[in-house]
Parts: sequence; structure tokens; C-alpha cells
Amino acid sequence: MRGIIFIAPPAAGKGTQSDLICDKYGFEHISTGELLRDASEEDNLEALYIKEKIDSGELVDDELIIELIDKKLHNLKTNGFILDGFPRNLVQAKMLNEMIKNFNLKQLYVFNIDVEFSVVMQRFTGRITCPDCGNVYNKLIDELKPKKDNYCNDCDVMLETRADDNEETFTKRFELYADETEPLISYYMEKGVLHRINGNLDTMQIFNQIVNILEGE
Ligand code: AP5
Ligand code: MG
Repeated sequence: MRGIIFIAPPAAGKGTQSDLICDKYGFEHISTGELLRDASEEDNLEALYIKEKIDSGELVDDELIIELIDKKLHNLKTNGFILDGFPRNLVQAKMLNEMIKNFNLKQLYVFNIDVEFSVVMQRFTGRITCPDCGNVYNKLIDELKPKKDNYCNDCDVMLETRADDNEETFTKRFELYADETEPLISYYMEKGVLHRINGNLDTMQIFNQIVNILEGE
């Protein structure tokens, strides 16, 4: 079993890279953002709470997210997993440590996608996503546009702009990343599992850096 974690700001390309890695290696993609967006559509009080947090760019409660991840990890059917969006603070990182003790984990890779604010700011403004499968596109970047304007390549469903993709919420998410998540870089560096990735490049250039590390080159 191999595991991958991303420490990367919003719109750095975590979802995009996760899809490429899963296509190549058959790992399971566990995106906390996707899981929460799905949960926010249920008809209950928890859904309202989650929606409010996502729409304001704040983190949801640690316990709720840890429960979601724990369930996913226990039902894994693949020989690898990607945690996209988890852990996001030290409490979550320590909980993950405990959870993976029960796994026969050959290697944990932590990819820090290092990318400037001005670059991610540009990326999120063009993002359109599929409300059904979560596929991510970018209407401003030729190589990332859907084949048919505004429709998902896989589902043929009309693409949407995420409710939290507005300048105010995005800036809040970026600030939270700097305060809560970025400190995990030194946490994982001390454990000797951190890999720095230049995230200012195009998707395939970023993917190639990741593949080289996974292939041990
Ligand atoms: P989440 O959905 O995880 O949002 P995020 O962390 O802000 O990350 P994004 O999904 O915005 O960006 P991404 O890095 O996946 O980039 P993408 O590949 O789409 O979380 C949402 C919310 O859920 C949080 O705010 C919080 O409320 C809650 N939450 C989630 N996890 C939580 C946790 N653990 N604890 C508590 N709360 C939690 O790419 C972005 C765009 O750029 C796309 O258009 C893409 O096509 C394009 N693109 C990608 N790569 C490139 C490239 N190299 N060059 C040019 N364009 C590119
Ligand atoms: Mg994402």
C-alpha cells in the first residue's frame, strides 16, 4: 500500500494531479472537498453546517472530517490512496498518523505543491467543475478546457462554478492555508517524507515531477 498527501494552497492543482495519478496507478482518490460538497447536499442539519463552512472558506470541524477519512480508509480496495485536502492542520496530521498505523503502508509521500498566490488566483477564476463526477476544467486554459464547451467530458452534464470560487472566499481559504496547513511542511520534513514540487508550471510538468518521485528516480 502506498499513500499520497498534498500540502498545497487552494487551486494549486491537487484535484487535477490526483486524477492523473489515479489514472496511471489505479489509486483511490479521496477528496475531502468533494466528500463535503456531497454531504452538504443532504437534507439535514449537518449539511447546513458544512455548506456554511465551505461557502465562507472556513474549515469544518476536525472530528467530522476525521470520521469521513477513517471510513474511506477502512473500505479501500486499491493498493494506494491519495488524500486530497487532508490533513489541513496539526490535529488532523496527528490523527492520520494514528490511522495509518493499522495499514501495511509501504510508503507515504507528501507532495508540497509550491505555488505563488498570483498564480492560484488566476487558476481559480477559470475553474469549472462537474457537479456529478467532480471533474475539474479551466475555461481560460486551452489544454484544460472540456471537449464540448461547458459540458463534462465524461458525464455530458453542464459544468458549474463552485460556490466558494469567489475572490473573498478564495482569499480567506488562502489565508487559512498559510496559517493552519503550511506549518505541516516542517512537520513532514522532519519525518523525512516531504517532496517539494514546483507548482508554477503546467499540469504535465507538475505531473512529471510527481511521477519521477513515485518511480524513485
Ligand atoms: P477543497 O475542495 O479541498 O478546496 P481547496 O483546498 O481550496 O482546493 P481546490 O479544490 O480549490 O483546488 P485544487 O488544489 O484541487 O485545484 P484544482 O485541481 O481544482 O476544500 C473546500 C472546502 O472544504 C474547504 O474550504 C473547507 O471548508 C472544506 N474542507 C476540505 N477539506 C477539509 C479538511 N481536511 N478539514 C476541514 N475542512 C475541510 O485546480 C484549480 C484550477 O486550476 C482548475 O481550473 C484546473 O483546471 C487548473 N489547473 C490545475 N493545474 C494547473 C496548472 N498546472 N496550470 C494551470 N492551471 C491548472
Ligand atoms: Mg480540489
